[in-house]
Amino acid sequence: MSIEIEVLNGDASWPQVKPLHDAIWPPEVVATLPWAGITFAHADLRVLVLDEAGDLLCHVGIYRRLVKWNGQNVNIAGIGGVLTRADMRNRGLATVGLNAAIQTLRHEDSINYALLFCAPDRLGFYGARGFIPFDGDVYAEQPEKGRIRFDALSAMVHDVKRTAPTRGTIDLCGLPW
Ligand SMILES: CC(C)(COP(=O)(O)OP(=O)(O)OC[C@H]1O[C@@H](n2cnc3c(N)ncnc32)[C@H](O)[C@@H]1OP(=O)(O)O)[C@@H](O)C(=O)NCCC(=O)NCCS
Repeated sequence: MSIEIEVLNGDASWPQVKPLHDAIWPPEVVATLPWAGITFAHADLRVLVLDEAGDLLCHVGIYRRLVKWNGQNVNIAGIGGVLTRADMRNRGLATVGLNAAIQTLRHEDSINYALLFCAPDRLGFYGARGFIPFDGDVYAEQPEKGRIRFDALSAMVHDVKRTAPTRGTIDLCGLPW
């Protein structure tokens, strides 16, 4: 099977991604998860892995963000919304998508490191793809609640331009992803 990789504007490509997102995360499933009720940011860029017919097989969202680490401004990128169509899993597609996302961040030249959030049972998956656990505290914004401690998911980091921190306090200064 031949695949194509595209990196597209997040908002413009959302209609192409929404059916896959909604098939994997229907509201009744999300309602049972630790991150039920959390408002997430929209991706700035999206890595799309497509088959030769142009059908979407896998998606990785990229979020550009100026965060604070221990009170200091740092330009980082979030990675989130990692999705592979159910019938196309275990063929390395998410690995391809994640690698393309990290390559994209390296080309941007202003991104210090990447940060993602995942369920604890995905730590091994991302760990095998170069991410390491972030053991510090994470804060984020939520509508009506303001700044909250964001601990519904495990945080992991990946070096890009600089070595990512594994401790301290990261304030996302906005919605989580
Ligand atoms: C998590 C998820 C994105 C993984 O997608 P995927 O495309 O199946 O991922 P990959 O194929 O790259 O890797 C999955 C496993 O497939 C196997 N695999 C990878 N490449 C392979 C290849 N070329 N051939 C055969 N098997 C392969 C590996 O066992 C790998 O797991 P491991 O290396 O950690 O043991 C997918 O299961 C999914 O969409 N789940 C629902 C949504 C979700 O939970 N997203 C993550 C939120 S944090």
